[in-house]
Amino acid sequence: MASHCLRAGMRLSKKLCGFLVLFVPLCLLCFHIYTKPASVVNVWNREVPKGLLDQTVFQPSEKLSHIPFKWKDEVLQLLPKNSCKCEAEATLNIPFRQELFGKPYAVDFASAVSVSQLNETKRRRDEEYKKFKMRHHNPTDVLIIAKANSPLEYPTQGVEVRPLKTVIIPGLSLQDFLKKVYKVSLSANKGTFNIAAEVEGVTVKGAGEERITLSSPNMDNLNRQLQFVSYTNTIFHPNTADIVQFQSDEHLATFHIKIRHPTVPKMYDTGSSNTKYNISALVTIATKTFLRYDKLQNLIDSIRKFYPTVTIIIADDSENPQKVEGPFIEHYIMPFGKGWFAGRNLAISQVTTKYVLWVDDDFIFSPRTKIERMVDVLERTTLDLVGGAVREITGYYTTYRQKISVFPGGKEGDCLMTRQGYHHTINGFPNCVVTDGVVNFFLARTDKILQAGFDPRLSRIGHLEFFIDGLGILHVGSCDDVIVDHASKIQLPWSKTETDKEYAKFRYPKSSDNSMVLRHILFYFKNRFKCMTGN
Ligand SMILES: *[C@@H]1O[C@H](CO)[C@@H](O)[C@H](O)[C@H]1NC(C)=O
Ligand SMILES: *[C@@H]1O[C@H](CO)[C@@H](O)[C@H](O)[C@H]1NC(C)=O
Repeated sequence: MASHCLRAGMRLSKKLCGFLVLFVPLCLLCFHIYTKPASVVNVWNREVPKGLLDQTVFQPSEKLSHIPFKWKDEVLQLLPKNSCKCEAEATLNIPFRQELFGKPYAVDFASAVSVSQLNETKRRRDEEYKKFKMRHHNPTDVLIIAKANSPLEYPTQGVEVRPLKTVIIPGLSLQDFLKKVYKVSLSANKGTFNIAAEVEGVTVKGAGEERITLSSPNMDNLNRQLQFVSYTNTIFHPNTADIVQFQSDEHLATFHIKIRHPTVPKMYDTGSSNTKYNISALVTIATKTFLRYDKLQNLIDSIRKFYPTVTIIIADDSENPQKVEGPFIEHYIMPFGKGWFAGRNLAISQVTTKYVLWVDDDFIFSPRTKIERMVDVLERTTLDLVGGAVREITGYYTTYRQKISVFPGGKEGDCLMTRQGYHHTINGFPNCVVTDGVVNFFLARTDKILQAGFDPRLSRIGHLEFFIDGLGILHVGSCDDVIVDHASKIQLPWSKTETDKEYAKFRYPKSSDNSMVLRHILFYFKNRFKCMTGN
């Protein structure tokens, strides 16, 4: 380095040269320390320590086996059995049954897979499912049972640490009887323990390790020391937890410490108006169109009567797209026939407001299409999405409220059940209910709808699929006092235009079309359902 430096010295001053001779190696050293190879860890969900759960809790204990009991069928029936079946409900033949309760049906999804492929498909599905379960396993889901009469005091929940950071564990103490030495230990598998202060008369072993032992002839001193026990997370794996075992000579207690980042909010500035909602600042209207420019123009015209400055986003996968222009309109052209869910996905991905209102391109706004009411529901409840009602030309209203349930079905897959209806009405909103799925006219929190997403593989048909994917992500409501009109679906054959016919060919495929099969295969593989019943 030095000789090299001197040779180059023609151009460098001696001072600079000396500086470099010292500085460069120093820098290299710093760099080395800074980038020293980090510890190598498995980035995988760690197994919870074995023996946490005494398997005998699931079996009738020998000691109590002489005490007789009688099963209660009405309760047993309510319990999950891991052997669900899909059978269409028997129907009563009452007038308007179908209109009132829908037509019960059952579909088997495995039959959508060709027989020669079924075994192989199932094998691949099992493999993916195994990985899914490993990714989604969380130590806090593990069943832990507290043994009787433990002298150990500890936090059962609510202890949380940021990844690779340190916390004091609150609430640890020992309340034991007279002993020569009081001794406790703590162990973990994703972090280490230490003490933030030393207390006289207490012996500490294993400070800075995964297992720490504290002992003292004086229980008060030991308990004072326990107030200073810290936990440091050493394996970076947010959204998991470490299971801590807290132990005295005869007793063992288990609790968990959550490892997670703080939730970073994603907030939207909703404008300055403080008296009523500024819809243009709060809501974007999104739609997907295909061929039907006349219908789309009617929709836009009707929106503009009531909301002249609200942004309208249009996703369009027509073969020969026409220009759709105007103030506050964004028109996105997609490859021909990309499809229904791909278009929905594209449209919502471009939304920059807090809420997005989904409409079909053949809807018409009227004075009853009060977006403010839907905004009010989402602003004043914890719902993520609220549907309205669609009024058909016949005067019939659709809210399409659906309850969605999944029943465990063992190795063949689970059973999906949909039923028309809802779970609760909402306090303060007499026209609104809580449910799982709603009609194609809904207002949603933009960040939540992006999280659920629309599967672009569903190109022709699909609606309920979005709510099934959103189960557990979206908290859904439905209000029947916000109404949008539907330009008639029922058309006399001789009044159909060429566009209508072309559209119908794509939008309503014949049952022989393979898009129905694709839908069933997605249910079978992606969602791991074996079958479905509905009405
Ligand atoms: C599929 O697996 C089953 C049971 O493992 C077997 O009986 C059947 O012959 C297999 N079918 C095909 C087409 O490989
Ligand atoms: C409402 O929001 C729009 C868009 O952010 C803004 O241009 C307009 O000035 C706002 N109106 C009021 C009354 O605050």
